[in-house]
Amino acid sequence: MKDFLIALKRFLPPYKKYLALSIVMNVLSALLNLVTFAIIKPILEVLFKTVDTTYQYMPYDFSSFGSIMNSMEALKNNFFWYVSVIMEKYDATMALVILATYLIGATILRTLAMYLAAYFMIPIRTGVVRDIRNMVNGKILSLPLAFFSEERKGDIIARISGDVNEIESSVMSSLDMMFKNPVMIIIYLVGMIVISWQLTLFVIVVLPFAGYIMGQIGKKLKKSSYIGQQQWGYLISLVEETLSGLRIIKAFNAESKISERFKASNDNFRSITESVFRRQQLAHPMSELLGTVTIAIVLVYGGSLILGNNSDITGSSFIVYLTVFYLLINPAKDLAKSVYSIQKGLASLDRVDKILKAESDINDPKNPQHVSFNTGIEYRDVWFRYNEEWVIKNVNLTIPKGKTVALVGQSGSGKSTMADLIPRFYDVKQGAIVIDGQDIRNFRLKDLRQLMGIVNQEAILFNDSFFNNIAFGVENATKEKVEEASRIANAHEFIIASENGYDTNIGDRGCKLSGGQRQRISIARAILKNPPLLILDEATSALDTESERLVQDALDRLMKNRTTFVIAHRLSTIRNADLICVLHEGEIVEQGAHNELIGKNGYYRQLYEMQFPNQ
Ligand SMILES: Nc1ncnc2c1ncn2[C@@H]1O[C@H](COP(=O)(O)OP(=O)(O)OP(=O)(O)O)[C@@H](O)[C@H]1O
Ligand SMILES: [Mg+2]
Repeated sequence: MKDFLIALKRFLPPYKKYLALSIVMNVLSALLNLVTFAIIKPILEVLFKTVDTTYQYMPYDFSSFGSIMNSMEALKNNFFWYVSVIMEKYDATMALVILATYLIGATILRTLAMYLAAYFMIPIRTGVVRDIRNMVNGKILSLPLAFFSEERKGDIIARISGDVNEIESSVMSSLDMMFKNPVMIIIYLVGMIVISWQLTLFVIVVLPFAGYIMGQIGKKLKKSSYIGQQQWGYLISLVEETLSGLRIIKAFNAESKISERFKASNDNFRSITESVFRRQQLAHPMSELLGTVTIAIVLVYGGSLILGNNSDITGSSFIVYLTVFYLLINPAKDLAKSVYSIQKGLASLDRVDKILKAESDINDPKNPQHVSFNTGIEYRDVWFRYNEEWVIKNVNLTIPKGKTVALVGQSGSGKSTMADLIPRFYDVKQGAIVIDGQDIRNFRLKDLRQLMGIVNQEAILFNDSFFNNIAFGVENATKEKVEEASRIANAHEFIIASENGYDTNIGDRGCKLSGGQRQRISIARAILKNPPLLILDEATSALDTESERLVQDALDRLMKNRTTFVIAHRLSTIRNADLICVLHEGEIVEQGAHNELIGKNGYYRQLYEMQFPNQ
């Protein structure tokens, strides 16, 4: 229950107003309910002609606590006094008609209050889940890349969809129960005290027992529900993997293997949810049974008091008492049910919190420095590793402003990693990367990343039009600018040849394009941003020689007067670089201009001769 209150404190504050309105309506509806049932007593008395007491009007007095209790008594008395006045004035049938009219009137008001109570709960319910989804999405955008290499994508999707829905359907839908039922229980208890405090004292001793028994069964629910949601996340990640890997699955005839894996995991999910649901369903019969047992106990106890003439209440008051008590059992049962369902929702909240409460270690500094880019970028004694093994070892490298620096080396030598360190996708473990003498960790991430345009090894595109994919990082891009960038990237031709030109949708991740076309779109995107620093990681690797030459020409033009950090396998593309560095197992083993390095007879010459054996 403590967890539940903490969760409420986190998410409810913006909706305090609605909560207050809803609680007021609940109090109102419970009070009206009491009034409605209080009418039963005079009806019974009329029908069974058992009226033997005469009622006198009692004045109210609210001056002290004791007198307030007396006033409650007065309220009850005056109500019956009023009914007896009616009965004296008219005949019994007429009195019944008047009472029935009261009943209808009170019920109309009561149901209206009930509806309004639920009405004011709805903005809270929908608002809180909206807030949670926004928070998760915002957090996903702010967490460093490293967080996601540890997580399955599908599981994260499951958290923002399935788990947030679970929170809505269990915690939020129970919210009105959690506020309504205690209010109703208290009001009914007060009503019962007014009718007979003796009997009510007895009830107050019996009820907590029943509550305790219910609580014990609910305890395990949260844990098994957590495991269930975890399994659901795994299931979604399998679907996600299947969708993105369909081509390979089919090519390798792995359908049955994938299908088996899914079925096993699906069965597992089923058996967990089966036990969760069974336990949850236990809430209903258990509360039903416990409710009836308590009523039976009260019936025997109260009945024997009346039969033995030991009590202040009459038979008809006792029936009203039992009715009110029965009214109380219902919200008590609902309360028990909501407690169960909340346990389930809290398990989902825990899973969502794994994202919401994840610490990001790549953040903006407290006192951000102004970003300038006048002299260049420098790697100073940089060390980096993803896990145990060092991937970048003691690298020192300067990229002077306006120059083109190329990085070559075997696959896995750490080239992409080197590039990822500049926009702080990852932070260096030792040493520093410095721009104009300032550690890049002193800049705001946004300012730092504003400096650079990046073309990745894999073109990253969105399910949107050509235009929007190219204009992605630039606000208010004009059609002319986008076209100009596409021309430079040698993409204009195939774009206008497509069905709707620049408005053509390119499919999920650009799946409707060829690999080379995708690359040209992402080059156009970087060109349009027109950044002072360009980072090209194998930007032209998927192009044929002819397109590559065209794009390379464009890039050469672009790279003039611009700082470029270029990674390439094909050495022909980096021949003109001002400086070429050879990375070998995370260390820079050679650097210099092309001719210099060829003259050295070392790593570079070896790489070059492998690619151009005839020269
Ligand atoms: N997210 C990651 N988590 C753990 N290890 C990684 C991660 N990314 C890369 N590595 C490891 O770091 C090393 C360097 O990888 P990197 O991608 O920088 O190589 P590369 O030089 O760009 O290779 P290629 O030419 O094939 O693109 C590799 O051994 C790789 O296994
Ligand atoms: Mg790479």
